[in-house]
Amino acid sequence: MSSIFPEHFLWGGAIAANQVEGAYLDDGKGLSTSDLQPQGIFGDIKARHSGDFSLKDVAIDFYHRYPQDIALFAEMGFSCLRVSIAWTRIFPQGDETQPNEAGLAFYDRLFDELARYGIQPLVTLSHYEMPYGLVQNHGGWGNRQTIDCFERYARTVFQRYQHKVKLWLTFNEINMSLHEPFTGVGLARGSELPAIYQAIHHQLVASARAVKACHDIIPDARIGNMMLGALLYPLTCKPQDVMESLHQNREWLFFGDVQVRGAYPAYMRRFFKEKNITLDITEQDRLDLQSTVDFISFSYYMTGCVSADEAEVEKARANILNMVPNPYLESSEWGWQIDPEGLRYLLNFLYDRYQKPLFIVENGLGARDNIEADGSINDDYRIKYLNDHLVQVGEAIEDGVDVLGYTCWGPIDLVSASKAEISKRYGFIYVDRDDQGNGSLERKRKKSFFWYQSVISSKGDMLKK
Ligand code: BG6
Repeated sequence: MSSIFPEHFLWGGAIAANQVEGAYLDDGKGLSTSDLQPQGIFGDIKARHSGDFSLKDVAIDFYHRYPQDIALFAEMGFSCLRVSIAWTRIFPQGDETQPNEAGLAFYDRLFDELARYGIQPLVTLSHYEMPYGLVQNHGGWGNRQTIDCFERYARTVFQRYQHKVKLWLTFNEINMSLHEPFTGVGLARGSELPAIYQAIHHQLVASARAVKACHDIIPDARIGNMMLGALLYPLTCKPQDVMESLHQNREWLFFGDVQVRGAYPAYMRRFFKEKNITLDITEQDRLDLQSTVDFISFSYYMTGCVSADEAEVEKARANILNMVPNPYLESSEWGWQIDPEGLRYLLNFLYDRYQKPLFIVENGLGARDNIEADGSINDDYRIKYLNDHLVQVGEAIEDGVDVLGYTCWGPIDLVSASKAEISKRYGFIYVDRDDQGNGSLERKRKKSFFWYQSVISSKGDMLKK
């Protein structure tokens, strides 16, 4: 394949504050919801006591080691790094009126370091965490006041970094709240659907207000949404399965529909009626929602199937997001079904639906790595996964889809979100740390490091179809 990827295509990787930074209480940082989930987003929610262990407290110590890590990203040729700002470094409890200067200063240093290498930051305002103070004292996103707190936070960072950051995202995988409400909207597990959708509504309004604030403060910036691209195929061509896939895909596309089109889609009326959900939506909310995103971003790891057959659905209960397994696909060690062509399909599907530029801001293979006797790490499985997905990105570009860039997930090993383990590694760069927190934190280049370097330097030409 030759020069399919456009000249301005952004190549890089994506990380998130709570999975890399560590330093969880340094320089005035407050506790975030992530700090209360030492076993990951599906694990127990625990109050913090001194001496408790959480791998995320130190994570990979990016807070102190970022210059070295950014140098390695630059060595691979990154033109973009997706990071998130920990809201709790800026507003430790979430409801303060004045920001924490030490937290702001940290991200100044981080963005300056990226600028030294010409790496563009793509910054997520909230990646799977919010100030625990807002949850404890205000009821998280269940409370309308959280919109104002978020807007204050967003305006603060837009003002501060207006000359350093031109690409922004609002909420990471905003549709995740339907599966994990504590992580997404700061509501207790087991919350009822009406409460979850009301909190989601507040978050959607907050996202739209951030879009408006970004356009006001940084006119030459672009701001996008971020969805978990959980594409669902019908398990069979039975019309009932096809209809079920329409319904279940709409569960997550609903977020994009609001964020891209600026209003609730018609199909939600029936859904809300059947689920007895009556939302408190003000006239001002409707106006706010009209501030729509400039581009759409999403994560893509796998696809799944849906079925109208109860027995199939029952079998899927134990799987992530309750997806029915696809008999034609293989799975990763963690049971995530690998589907490179699904990425081409999804890119085309989203572009057909929205006609907006798309950005793949997460994709990758979590796998156990083995260090050979000579110290090398030959992660051919990761190279294959990424190669096959990038080939499909190229196909989608040839299909006519406007793709802004690709930041693969975890270019350096980090703490996983779902189970807070580091043995599920995504990186091109190995980090010497285990799930119990042992290790020197030393960094080491894997075979995939050199592979990605040549992918970027050849602008994708060396990918193998
Ligand atoms: C996405 C999240 O869901 O998937 C990331 O945005 C996460 O935060 C990634 O790390 C991979 O999931 P996991 O559980 O393997 O870390």
